[in-house]
Amino acid sequence: MGWDGSPILVFAVFALSLVNLNPPPAVIAKTPCHFPAIFNFGDSNSDTGGLSAVFGQAPPPNGMSYFGHPAGRYCDGRLVIDFLAESLDLPYLSAFLDSLGTNFTHGANFATAGSTIRPQNTTLRQSGFSPVSLNVQYYEFHDFHLRSQVLRKRGGVYETLLPKEEDFSNALYTFDIGQNDLTSGYFSNMTVDEVKAYVPDVLDQFQTIIKYISDIGGRYFWIHNTGPVGCLPYVMEHIPVLAGQIDRYGCASPFNEVAQFFNRGLKNTVEQLRKDLPHAAITYVDVYSVKYSLISQGRKHGFNQTLRTCCGHGGKYNYNKKLGCGGKVHTHGKDVLVAAPCKDPSSHVNWDGVHFTEGANRYIFERIVDGSFSDPPNPLNMACHRN
Ligand SMILES: *[C@@H]1O[C@H](CO)[C@@H](O)[C@H](O)[C@H]1NC(C)=O
Ligand SMILES: *[C@@H]1O[C@H](CO)[C@@H](O)[C@H](O)[C@H]1NC(C)=O
Ligand SMILES: *[C@@H]1O[C@H](CO)[C@@H](O)[C@H](O)[C@H]1NC(C)=O
Ligand SMILES: *[C@@H]1O[C@H](CO)[C@@H](O)[C@H](O)[C@H]1NC(C)=O
Repeated sequence: MGWDGSPILVFAVFALSLVNLNPPPAVIAKTPCHFPAIFNFGDSNSDTGGLSAVFGQAPPPNGMSYFGHPAGRYCDGRLVIDFLAESLDLPYLSAFLDSLGTNFTHGANFATAGSTIRPQNTTLRQSGFSPVSLNVQYYEFHDFHLRSQVLRKRGGVYETLLPKEEDFSNALYTFDIGQNDLTSGYFSNMTVDEVKAYVPDVLDQFQTIIKYISDIGGRYFWIHNTGPVGCLPYVMEHIPVLAGQIDRYGCASPFNEVAQFFNRGLKNTVEQLRKDLPHAAITYVDVYSVKYSLISQGRKHGFNQTLRTCCGHGGKYNYNKKLGCGGKVHTHGKDVLVAAPCKDPSSHVNWDGVHFTEGANRYIFERIVDGSFSDPPNPLNMACHRN
């Protein structure tokens, strides 16, 4: 170190002391949170292997862009929950239902693709909805909480695979669920008004689960609202709407309006929860707006295709329900991959008609991580502070 740096140092010290003479009133410096674990609840938007473990692996080319093989995710790569874990310096979450190679030291993922908040009265085979609804995810979590501690006391390898007791109260509890509660009504031919009519019941059940988790020690909650489902091929292909109900970006407005109706209700639910749980810090994250702006202004952000899938087959949106991403047909004695991926998934918003590409997930993560879409507007690493 020569003399060159010194005047700057002197000036910096001087400037600091000036600031210290007049501290802004009532501003308390917040320290970043230390989340030792994430416990996630949700559907395919955040499933890292739950449904795959129980009902068969998501087929190739899922996972092609990042993992190089299917990785229990309905995506070419990472999900928003993966980027959230990375940014908190935590490993990717193991699925609770996966019995092979899992490590729950830094959390567990209870989400499964097709999950709803309310239990459905149909099977996965009949309707495509997962039997692991949010209440079931809670039973699993409750069991995990108790039994992980019993096992941990045995020491040895168990201590290196399971979270510490205190990690449960310091963990971040993340939620991304509700989309399938809306589509389950549409797919059983309900009108938009009929779907709206049961939304309060869905939100009631959501609220109950947050309270249960709080009762057993959870304090920090990070809740995603639901996305613009009216912009997704699996909804647009199967429930035709009138021409006048298509917005200027090609999305089906009635379904987006119900999603926004759900989200207004969710926001009120979160406000009520803040009153009922005075020790909880609950962050509501407006993922809807991020996803909608990505779809409406995709080109500006390097996405050429905003509605058509990257991986699918046929039709207006390169999507066929019967021949989903990775789907093959048997011709001339051979299985031929018909629903193949596009050359450049990162130029597409939509991966398979239902889910976003890794590129889109990264875009969403980058917009939400700093708190710009959150209420209160805390960044992810400040989500333990109650405003
Ligand atoms: C399933 O059936 C029960 C009993 O009839 C009913 O209360 C519940 O609302 C139904 N669930 C859904 C998602 O329709
Ligand atoms: C599980 O993960 C933790 C943290 O990443 C690591 O310290 C531990 O050794 C792992 N356990 C096993 C058995 O690999
Ligand atoms: C919805 O209506 C379509 C067309 O009328 C019919 O084919 C389908 O079976 C109905 N689905 C349900 C769940 O009622
Ligand atoms: C987007 O489309 C334009 C015109 O078709 C093409 O020149 C460009 O390479 C595409 N960009 C990406 C990222 O695919």
